[in-house]
Amino acid sequence: MDFKVADLSLAAFGRREIQLAEHEMPGLMAIRKEYAEARPLAGAKIMGSLHMTIQTAVLIETLVALGAEVRWVSCNIFSTQDHAAAAVVVGPEGTVDDPKGVPVFAWKGETLEEYWWCTEQALNWPGGDGPNMILDDGGDATLLVHKGAEYEKAGAVPSAAEDDPEEWKVILDLLRRTVSEEKRWTKIASQIKGVTEETTTGVHRLYEMFKAGTLLFPAINVNDSVTKSKFDNKYGCRHSVIDGLNRATDVLIGGKVAVVCGYGDVGKGCADALRGQGARVIVTEIDPICALQAAMDGFQVTTLDDVVGIADIFVTTTGNFNIITADHMAKMKHNAIVSNIGHFDNEIDMAGLAKIPGIVKTEVKPQVHTWTFPEGNAIIVLAEGRLMNLGCATGHPSFVMSNSFTNQVIAQIELFTKTEQYPIGVYVLPKHLDEKVARLHLDALGVKLTTLTKAQADYIGVDVEGPYKPDHYRY
Ligand code: NAI
Repeated sequence: MDFKVADLSLAAFGRREIQLAEHEMPGLMAIRKEYAEARPLAGAKIMGSLHMTIQTAVLIETLVALGAEVRWVSCNIFSTQDHAAAAVVVGPEGTVDDPKGVPVFAWKGETLEEYWWCTEQALNWPGGDGPNMILDDGGDATLLVHKGAEYEKAGAVPSAAEDDPEEWKVILDLLRRTVSEEKRWTKIASQIKGVTEETTTGVHRLYEMFKAGTLLFPAINVNDSVTKSKFDNKYGCRHSVIDGLNRATDVLIGGKVAVVCGYGDVGKGCADALRGQGARVIVTEIDPICALQAAMDGFQVTTLDDVVGIADIFVTTTGNFNIITADHMAKMKHNAIVSNIGHFDNEIDMAGLAKIPGIVKTEVKPQVHTWTFPEGNAIIVLAEGRLMNLGCATGHPSFVMSNSFTNQVIAQIELFTKTEQYPIGVYVLPKHLDEKVARLHLDALGVKLTTLTKAQADYIGVDVEGPYKPDHYRY
């Protein structure tokens, strides 16, 4: 088996944590049981690009239990938990000397070149074939296949402009080496039945491609299952934003001024958590609806420029770019903490920060750096501006990820087994499946659901078995 992880000897530790996680992931375990015999993913060759954590290990082993062949990478250079990666490679039946699990190409602290190399490896099945399904988080695997096919069609890979982001230059280099006369990427794209996308930012990319007419295979938008974005993005971040801050800095949050940029699902979870710790939380927004929500939830809403000099902690949650500029950072209080929990690292202008003449970057520990300005004041930047909950801590806990990943598995089954029902486009799972995911998590929390009487169901115009809400309902 080909694979590349940090240290296979961590597998036993990883396995013990996977076993604990399985207990906390009732949705995934119920799906394993439901489909144990039918094995609906037999024949599926799934390439996954999603943070290689303990929770993801349970997802991977669920896909395998349902019959799939799987190859995996992380979707972020800092998010891999090395013991999880090792345990997945070794597998429940294997040993360190005789691994029998799944090929994983991921370790904590990859360079950008290594990151894209890993992505390419996972898209490369032994024998020169590619996958027939992608499970993506943020859209990097989907992007690589699309760009490869696009440049093969054009007959050349464009040169990078000097001011292009470093990462784009790395991608173009990789494609220059791999775009081929035999149209390798075009072949891979043509064999893919579909992609299931985990996060807001990746989904945004998919809709853009569909609108531009460049999307090459159908996609299921897992993010916008209610049981994903209204749970993982909100309650997951409510947990892991604090975990990231604590593990990185252990600074007391109570009494501090925290600024949360963006009040979408992730922002709502982060603001709630910081307030829960006793911080005075200030929100920035561009959308009047979300700004009004923040105000009615009791937060001060203002612009970053107004408060940049008084806040102690900054968290960006927008999925947008250039939210905190180098200019902002230069005006911050000494040792203000600057962090991002959105998918990509461009929410904070790290490139601009590095270009300030005389600035000094000092590593406190991996993924925690002080940046000292020539005037002597410093800021603390978490995870080099990448998502801090996965860079500085271990991401969301198992129970909430069980909701997200149960949606992922159901979406993979949908696209793989009912391909003809999904012409190229971007879809969300039907509501009865969303409700099923929620239902699978109730018992574990001791929730007792009320059952509608037939007369009540008729009165509100639904079936006793659901779905209970129209598609336009917003929760
Ligand atoms: P969302 O679209 O619900 O929220 C983003 C909010 O930011 C919106 O309300 C938008 O109006 C606001 N915004 C945009 N530009 C802004 C600006 N210049 N200033 C202030 N506010 C601005 O998206 P969601 O679901 O909250 O996701 C946000 C990001 O977090 C995405 O990149 C997503 O992929 C990522 N994500 C990260 C997770 C993690 O564990 N780190 C988990 C889930 C999502």
